[in-house]
Amino acid sequence: MTPTLLILGGTTEASALARVMADRGIAAVFSYAGRTEQPRKQPIPLRVGGFGGVDGLVRYLRDTGITHVVDATHPFAAQMSRNAVAACRATGVELAALTRAAWQPQPGDIWRNVADIEAAVAALSGPRRRVLLALGRMHLARFAVQPQHHYLLRLVDEHGALPLPEYTSVIARGPFTFADDMELMRQYDIDLVVSKNAGGNGARAKIDAARALKVPVIMIDRPALPARLELFGPDQVLDWLDHSGTDRGV
Ligand SMILES: NC(=O)c1ccc[n+]([C@@H]2O[C@H](COP(=O)([O-])OP(=O)(O)OC[C@H]3O[C@@H](n4cnc5c(N)ncnc54)[C@H](OP(=O)(O)O)[C@@H]3O)[C@@H](O)[C@H]2O)c1
Repeated sequence: MTPTLLILGGTTEASALARVMADRGIAAVFSYAGRTEQPRKQPIPLRVGGFGGVDGLVRYLRDTGITHVVDATHPFAAQMSRNAVAACRATGVELAALTRAAWQPQPGDIWRNVADIEAAVAALSGPRRRVLLALGRMHLARFAVQPQHHYLLRLVDEHGALPLPEYTSVIARGPFTFADDMELMRQYDIDLVVSKNAGGNGARAKIDAARALKVPVIMIDRPALPARLELFGPDQVLDWLDHSGTDRGV
């Protein structure tokens, strides 16, 4: 059977996988949620926007003849990941998650681990700090209850007023280098970082920079997800496609 792969994207790893699929001539479609105005181009066909919950994804899988799904969403995109598990179970489509190990503290790190965004907000009570809030746009409003801080935001798209009393925003698209993030944190005199434990290399420069600058980090743990096959790189995805009886078409 010739595989038709759906890559649920939005991460550096998803884009790298799309490149490998294009190079190998494996039929694959890339899916973005549509959160950014100009998503990164991909070398395979692209679809953008939600599927419409589990039912919508079930319909999409059936209508398009998808045989395999790789969930390469961000580890915090829990809803999409849960939907993928349910829809693949309902349709018998093969599912694997392209994951990356969570970051572990290294000597010199000053981390305070918290369970979720709400706990990160609570951990910000206390005197004024200059906070790099490295969370994207979605949850910013929740930090308005800690108005004593200056927040530095790095966002992909230009935007109107944001729901925080005092902030600076920098418009830039990652991945960023260690030098980029050292420069950013020095320029804005950052003395606290709030980060999701994304894992992988695409977003880790700020964590390395925080260690080098002795800046503490409030590290948000990953949400729990249903059990699913986990793969750790494009080579493992290729092996998985082989073992699930597909013909790579090369
Ligand atoms: N959460 C983060 O911190 C983070 C960071 C970097 C990148 N991202 C990327 O941004 C996207 C959205 O993240 P999120 O946290 O909003 O996810 P989420 O809460 O798990 O997803 C909410 C809804 O957005 C739609 N969706 C999410 N990812 C999709 C995809 N790849 N293709 C089509 N629809 C998708 C689905 O809508 P329907 O139910 O209508 O299908 C899903 O139910 C993800 O693709 C993720 O990889 C997220």
